[in-house]
Amino acid sequence: MSALTPLEIVEALDRHIVGQQEAKKKVAIALRNRWRRQQLPEALREEIAPKNIIMIGPTGVGKTEVARRLSKLAEAPFVKVEASKFTEVGYVGRDCESMIRELTEVGIKLVKEEMQREVQGEAAAQAEEKLLDLLLPPQPSSGPEKIFRPGDPQSGDEGPAKNLDQDPSTRTREILLKKLRAGDLDKREVEVRVKDTGNSSVMQVFGANGMEEMGVNLQEMMGRMMPQKSKVRKVTVAEARGILEQEAVQELIDMDSVTPLAIDRVENSGIVFLDEIDKIAGRGQQGQGPDVSREGVQRDILPIVEGSTVNTKYGPVRTDHILFIAAGAFHIAKVSDLIPELQGRFPIRVELDNLGATDFGRILREPECSLITQYISMLETEGVTLEFEDAAIDAIAEFCQRVNDESENIGARRLHTLMENLLEEISFEAPNRPGETIRVDVAMVNERLASKVEDQDLSKYIL
Ligand SMILES: Nc1ncnc2c1ncn2[C@@H]1O[C@H](COP(=O)(O)OP(=O)(O)OP(=O)(O)O)[C@@H](O)[C@H]1O
Ligand SMILES: [Mg+2]
Repeated sequence: MSALTPLEIVEALDRHIVGQQEAKKKVAIALRNRWRRQQLPEALREEIAPKNIIMIGPTGVGKTEVARRLSKLAEAPFVKVEASKFTEVGYVGRDCESMIRELTEVGIKLVKEEMQREVQGEAAAQAEEKLLDLLLPPQPSSGPEKIFRPGDPQSGDEGPAKNLDQDPSTRTREILLKKLRAGDLDKREVEVRVKDTGNSSVMQVFGANGMEEMGVNLQEMMGRMMPQKSKVRKVTVAEARGILEQEAVQELIDMDSVTPLAIDRVENSGIVFLDEIDKIAGRGQQGQGPDVSREGVQRDILPIVEGSTVNTKYGPVRTDHILFIAAGAFHIAKVSDLIPELQGRFPIRVELDNLGATDFGRILREPECSLITQYISMLETEGVTLEFEDAAIDAIAEFCQRVNDESENIGARRLHTLMENLLEEISFEAPNRPGETIRVDVAMVNERLASKVEDQDLSKYIL
């Protein structure tokens, strides 16, 4: 698990997300608390429940973005689910538990990857041996070995004894090994026997949907029922090395030890990000179709958040200590529209700030892969150098705020449409203008955007 301090977590988030310090701080503490709890003695650890968080804030201010970036930092099983997906047609109560199954799947993958890294060296050595066997099949020793015994009149001179540790096949092997390591043989072809993993279409049809609900993997089950087929493939040495290493890794990893480790990891450091939670708020008083199931979904999510045991194909998983971070715009519904039990399970609330022109300017400039950087790099592939005048960026940011104020406030998402409109022509013509430097200045921004922004109807549909 990540041992980053709260400050380090905030700094890492700062590289991608502008502002929203309060939210960053709260998730950083929550993440650190997972680590702290792990350091405690078992008895105390049991008592400490995670403090779930709700992030509240208008559309496009970075809620989902915080989750996305946090997941990269967490080094813990992490899933992001849209709560609204549980209200879709065909929804059945049990389905909410699928988020825990997904989380377990992530946990298994995580632990497996860690183990793979551990056995990588060993696997590479094994693969090398097998490769040598392929290149130089072991010679069946011809006849009984002549061994030099000093007292034996039958044995000859020193000759055979020397042969014993310097027998020609060992020597060839050594030479081959050197060449192999130097990559000299990479292009040569060898035949390897590989397991035939071609999934028959029947299995895929079954596996595609619904079955996951039962917590069994039909594909695996059927795979086991059918005889393991293998076939011989002709591949280059370089490819063979990959295949053999992969096989050796699979053999070296003990799935029986992966599963309990992964489940432990999920139970104690797993994080579920419940996005769009406001979409399931509402207690069904309205009586309208979809609303009826909203409260139902909350009731189904509740036991998972409160702590229960979910059956997965890897075994039962307890959810008591899994951290839940929820987020929602809460434009129409309010947090108080959630059923009280669920509200109670999210003791930490944090409001994200509305973004203004200054923030938009920073969002364009500061993040590591900001929109501006993205456009510059994209056009670079065409040989076009794109430059942005500082004042032009401010102008874009101001237009962004204006359109958000005048039509709908969609936060930083607006920047995407604005930038696309601004650079449309350049983007279209770029292949015909290699070697050119194009400078985006205030005049260009005004020219391209002003008319669209001023025309209320246009701005509503285009920007
Ligand atoms: N504070 C921010 N810093 C940097 N980029 C941001 C920020 N806020 C939003 N963005 C950008 O805007 C886009 C939309 O943000 P995000 O998906 O986080 O919105 P949200 O808060 O989840 O909105 P919604 O309630 O509609 O789901 C992202 O792609 C991100 O690049
Ligand atoms: Mg979102």
